[in-house]
Amino acid sequence: MPIKKIIAIGSAKGGVGKSSITALLALSLSKHKKVGILDADIYGPNQNILFSLDSKNTILNKKIMPAEKKGIKIISMGNILNYDDAAIWRGPMLSGAIKKLINDTVWDNLDYLLIDMPPGTGDAYLTVFKELIIDEFILITTPNKLAISDTQKTITMLRKLNINILGFISNNIFNVKNFDDSLFLSNKIDHLGTYEFDKNILDLNLDFNCLVSNKISKVIMSDV
Ligand SMILES: Nc1ncnc2c1ncn2[C@@H]1O[C@H](COP(=O)(O)OP(=O)(O)O)[C@@H](O)[C@H]1O
Ligand SMILES: [Mg+2]
Repeated sequence: MPIKKIIAIGSAKGGVGKSSITALLALSLSKHKKVGILDADIYGPNQNILFSLDSKNTILNKKIMPAEKKGIKIISMGNILNYDDAAIWRGPMLSGAIKKLINDTVWDNLDYLLIDMPPGTGDAYLTVFKELIIDEFILITTPNKLAISDTQKTITMLRKLNINILGFISNNIFNVKNFDDSLFLSNKIDHLGTYEFDKNILDLNLDFNCLVSNKISKVIMSDV
């Protein structure tokens, strides 16, 4: 696959901002690079909504052409399910559907493929890691202690599977002052930046550069 770097964004907990931050990071990177998003949340796809993808994906000779918005190539079950050809998706279960999205999409050349991971630590993860070589994993958490403690599950799984963790982003969704980063410190995981509460986050017009700190850009941009 002609993709230079694959970066997965995830957390065991749902609702912490994985999809929003994936979209913002993609927009930021796409200013200078070719970027794609794979929405791996099969049962709760959101990238189609975040990017207001109105057209359906074209399927040509069983190959899927990603949608394109703001220069970003996007593949999401949210776009495929409406399609007349949706019958081909009914057969395969979760891992089959993810495999299809990964292997049947025509990306052309990409500098970065960002993967918006579903919540949990189950089959979806195992399938993505089996089908693709993930260069970096970015953890997302809110300051909520349940979200932070769930992150431990993700860290344990990533370590078992030898997936490189670039660091974590704290998403200050609750607009609080204190963030307990002891779990990340004890696991020696870098803080990549904080994304503050933003009531306009769904507009996707925000500048993400504040968050794409040197730590992210240095590693992500290095050999691409
Ligand atoms: N920094 C933020 N400020 C305000 N709202 C946010 C922020 N981050 C996420 N949200 C909102 O929180 C909800 C969950 O975000 P989402 O990206 O869907 O999380 P996940 O993909 O982890 O389930 C959405 O309604 C989103 O608009
Ligand atoms: Mg999501």
